[in-house]
Amino acid sequence: MTHEPHPLDFPADPFEVAQNAAADIARLTGVDRHDLAVTLGSGWGRAAELVGETVATIPATEVTGFSKPALEGHVGTLRSVRTPDGRHVLVIGARTHYYEGHGVRRVVHSVRTAAAAGAKTMVLTNGAGGIKGAWSPGQPVLISDHLNLTSDSPLEGATFIDLTDLYSSRLRDVAREVDPSLDEGVYCQFRGPQYETPAEVQMAKTLGGHIVGMSTALEAIAARQAGMEVLGFSLITNLAAGISPTPLSHQEVIEAGQAAESRISQLLADVIGRIR
Ligand code: HPA
Repeated sequence: MTHEPHPLDFPADPFEVAQNAAADIARLTGVDRHDLAVTLGSGWGRAAELVGETVATIPATEVTGFSKPALEGHVGTLRSVRTPDGRHVLVIGARTHYYEGHGVRRVVHSVRTAAAAGAKTMVLTNGAGGIKGAWSPGQPVLISDHLNLTSDSPLEGATFIDLTDLYSSRLRDVAREVDPSLDEGVYCQFRGPQYETPAEVQMAKTLGGHIVGMSTALEAIAARQAGMEVLGFSLITNLAAGISPTPLSHQEVIEAGQAAESRISQLLADVIGRIR
């Protein structure tokens, strides 16, 4: 069965597009290979400067296949950072969300680019709603597994990929060496962009979900397909709809991210520092 490309999606082989993107990154940063990649979601933005010394920062629009940013005036960047022990980390500050409607190949392009650039580990972070009653806004949690509720997949054709331990238990243990108090939960990727109804949050809870968001699951699948080990973190920016007594607002999500940013960025940088 052949895949019908999305009208706005890459017309070419997505792995070839990722190879070209990796070549652009090598040329623009002067770093031939990266060891690890991290995607910074809302609230995690300051981790880049804490991971090490920035070797180069490039606007994502200069790299093959990266879409124009969804929000006007917000150009995503890719950064090459060198850790104190000499490893190279690709910091991805440009995420294409599924709800932008550009097709799933573009959603996972940054992950495939990271793999083509040599990364063996993919760290995915996001801001999300919390279902567990014990959680409060501003709290970072580990992703232990996911429910992909998008009805879509980055895999094309008969590509059977094992997703057992997708969110590496080894890497979750590394994260808990840094912060033993880290809780974990099952991430549910909804299509968005509307936030969930309280009934949808109850559905997610009944299905075994603890975190609701609009990213990460499709990216994690692509990372596993590329042979990378995945670590996932959510910042709980708000209690999910109906769990919280008050309506959700994008402003609240942004503010919770800003308030937690320094603390969780340091946590993330410390965890990245320990990953071998
Ligand atoms: N739902 C979905 N996505 C989100 C949420 C939420 O409650 N908070 C931040 N991103």
